[in-house]
Parts: sequence; structure tokens; C-alpha cells
Amino acid sequence: MLDSAQLQAYDRDGYLRVRGLFSRPEVGVLLDGVEHALAATRRIGDMPDAAGRSSKLALWMDVREDVFGAATRHPRLVGAARQLLREDVYHWHSKVMLKEPRVGGAWEWHQDYGYWYRDGCLYPRLVSCMLALDPATPANGCLQVMPGSHLLGRIEHGRSGNQSGADPERVAAAQARLQTVHAEMDPGDVLFFHANTLHASGPNASDAPRRAYICCYNALSNRPFGGKGHGNPEPIALVPDDAILAFARAEA
Ligand code: SIN
Ligand code: MN
Repeated sequence: MLDSAQLQAYDRDGYLRVRGLFSRPEVGVLLDGVEHALAATRRIGDMPDAAGRSSKLALWMDVREDVFGAATRHPRLVGAARQLLREDVYHWHSKVMLKEPRVGGAWEWHQDYGYWYRDGCLYPRLVSCMLALDPATPANGCLQVMPGSHLLGRIEHGRSGNQSGADPERVAAAQARLQTVHAEMDPGDVLFFHANTLHASGPNASDAPRRAYICCYNALSNRPFGGKGHGNPEPIALVPDDAILAFARAEA
């Protein structure tokens, strides 16, 4: 359960980092499931950044029966998402971000609602939950956020290399007025961020991977119009709190 100081910080900054929301053993089970999640995913993106370095991601929209599905339906994520959006939520999509040593590329400054607006969501009432599977540092391209940028409204997005980025003139103006924070994370930490929060990340210049699971939830009242969008707009059946570790026990 998030407390009122955490909710206030999220409303003010557009993001909230919760340290150690998942334990090291739980992260170990998720890491063991990465290969299976990749093998089960048809949408594996390889998104070169402006410098041509590749940022890989696997994206899926169903709630899986694998260990990542246990994370998607986990009360620590769904409960927090419900609190932050002040209503019930459904699964929009999930991603495993693979920023590989030396080759993992950058993500340009963007708002997730820059894309999801086009998917028919009337409001930016979605939240992303980024669960660190490896330590994330400036050296391996941790996420960067601009506190308060979720209040700017939606910025136009256009092509930036092969990625879609926020209008660079607006980004520069926002950078001149707002701070840029490197959201360093330890495995098991979760960064919750608002769909309009400007975020980016640098390349992985280190010898260590920077893997993360990002689960995105939409408010149930914000179902896209015209049958567009991601996920199935149905409430999520929660798993028990020990579901991730239980998954590993069942596999053994
Ligand atoms: C990243 O993994 O660094 C970028 C994540 C995002 O844009 O949501
Ligand atoms: Mn994003």
C-alpha cells in the first residue's frame, strides 16, 4: 500500500520510485523467465536510436500464464496502479526492456501518451511500472525523468531516428525549466510513472546488462474509443502475494 506522502509525491512529480518492492529472490525468478518471455513474444522490437545503436524490447498485450503474468497480476503492482489512478485498472501491455552491454541504445525523450493518444485513449490516465531486474545506473542507461513534466500536457511526437520522440524544441524548453533526474534503481525497485511524464535513457556504455520489466495499466474508465488500443479492458484477477516465488517452486 502506498501512503499519502507517496501519492502526493507522484501527483507532484509524475513519478515515484519505491525501493525494494520485490525481493531479490523474486527478481531472480523473473530473470530466469526472461528467455521464455522472449521466445513467447512475436513483437520483439529492435529500435535503433539516433546513433544507430539498438535498443531491444519484447512487448505483449495479453496477461500471460508465465512468471511475468504473475507480476502483471501482482497485488503490489496492481494495487499501487489502482491507488495512483484512483480507480480500477486493466492491463494495457507489458514489455521487457533489454539494454545489452555496450550495444544497448538510447531512448529519446518522449511521453508514453505521445503514442497512446493515437491508440484512442481520451485521457492520459495510464501508469507505467518499471521493475528493475538489474542495477540501473547512469553508466548502463538508467531511465531519466523530468519531474513535473506530466503537467505540461501532451507534446507532439515525431520521428527521431527510428524512434518516435517528443518535439525537440519543446523538450529543450522543458529542460531549461525543469530538472532532469537519473532514476537509479536496484533490482526489485519499481518506478511508477505517469503517461505524460517526459522520460528518456542513455545508451548502455557498461559491461553489465540493464534489463527491466515494464507493466502498463490503463484506468478502466479510460477504455479507448473505436475499439482501438492495447490489452483487454477487463479487471485483473490478482494472484497471491507469494505468486512469483510459488511459480518457481511449481517449476522445480
Ligand atoms: C527504457 O527502457 O530506458 C525506456 C523505457 C520507456 O520508454 O518506457
Ligand atoms: Mn516510454
